[in-house]
Amino acid sequence: MVQAAQKKKRLGVLIGGSGLIGGTLAHYFKTKTADVIDIRAPSSKKLSIRMAEDIKAYLRRVRPDFVINTAMAALDSDAQLAFEVNYLGTVNLARACCALNIPYIHMSSASTLPSGENLTEEDHLPLSPHLSNYAKSKLMSERTLKYMGKQQGLDYTVIRLAIVYGEHDHKIQGFHRLFFTIADESMPFLFTKKGIQHSYTNANKLPYLVHHALDHREEFSGETYHFVDKDPIALDELILTIRSYLELKRPNEIYFPYPVIRSGKYFLERLAKALNWFGIGVRLPPELMFLESFYKPQTLSSDKLEESSFVDPFPDETVITALPKLVIYYLTRWGHLNLITTFNEEFFGCNDLEDDFRFNPRDLLNSIHADSTAPFVDVQDKQ
Ligand SMILES: NC(=O)c1ccc[n+]([C@@H]2O[C@H](COP(=O)([O-])OP(=O)(O)OC[C@H]3O[C@@H](n4cnc5c(N)ncnc54)[C@H](OP(=O)(O)O)[C@@H]3O)[C@@H](O)[C@H]2O)c1
Repeated sequence: MVQAAQKKKRLGVLIGGSGLIGGTLAHYFKTKTADVIDIRAPSSKKLSIRMAEDIKAYLRRVRPDFVINTAMAALDSDAQLAFEVNYLGTVNLARACCALNIPYIHMSSASTLPSGENLTEEDHLPLSPHLSNYAKSKLMSERTLKYMGKQQGLDYTVIRLAIVYGEHDHKIQGFHRLFFTIADESMPFLFTKKGIQHSYTNANKLPYLVHHALDHREEFSGETYHFVDKDPIALDELILTIRSYLELKRPNEIYFPYPVIRSGKYFLERLAKALNWFGIGVRLPPELMFLESFYKPQTLSSDKLEESSFVDPFPDETVITALPKLVIYYLTRWGHLNLITTFNEEFFGCNDLEDDFRFNPRDLLNSIHADSTAPFVDVQDKQ
């Protein structure tokens, strides 16, 4: 009996486990499915998917039952890194999964889609040299996985994500960069047009889909799914809602036209280049590459997933309802990291130990020595 239960336990390899999406998946599998699924999440130092040999050696050794890939090179990576991590890494993982005859779950992105409304899984941008390195590598990955599904019998599922929101984005990217800009009061006006809608993806719900897709291969194999909140949200409405949660006055409700913003961006890029010339390193947020999309709608249809056997675990949770939780998490984190100073201790609360650490380190040290250095009893071996 015990043996049968042990046999059933599956082992998965998660690539990108330190990232926003990978971290959320790792947490889910460790806390919710530990009895039936074990997850190995090697860091990029242990297993870099740029190296085909690393992938082969690791998977040969671990012999997993499935692989989930949430790795990506930084958004503004050069062509080589984007190609090697986002595309070649994907292809090599897929080749290894094919050889081991195991499912491969791949995270893709709405950057493979044009602007427009109610876009379906069949839609995609034409592959062209003018795409950003990120979009090009994600699009090529989708195309090759489809090809390998047909030609090599690869058992894969592509999950296309839109603008992702959730806790633990330690790099402050995408949605969280927008949120940070508002919290930091560095957005003076609205960099969008009235009512321009986009789709948003809830990171916390994604693990439930991945788990479901792993359990229902016959239905999900060889398929692409959009994973977004059912209803899109207008960017101006979202920004103004965040502003009111934070009780801020900025950004002003003035809509800045795109040509003005584009000129500003051009000027900033030149300025950054000039300053770099003098040895002053200036790095503009990579999200500036998406500036144009603030002025164009991009909404993804969720019909295909809704018609599948997957059931949304928290149907009422949206980017708007998640805001209070996100506000508390990120303002606390950014405050502790001294990234924002607008929100004072009133918000973060008062901590006696922290006060002692700041003002009475000697007393704190003595009190810890007096009563808090004995070995943990609950960690000691029971004799
Ligand atoms: N966040 C979004 O808004 C968004 C939107 C649409 C789609 N997506 C997709 O979702 C996936 C995850 O995105 P994310 O936001 O979670 O990214 P992220 O937070 O930037 O994390 C990226 C992860 O990739 C790992 N990685 C980078 N280079 C690697 C390499 N050579 N070998 C192995 N691992 C490597 C990083 O590990 P280290 O830290 O150790 O380098 C990190 O764990 C990506 O496929 C992305 O395209 C994200």
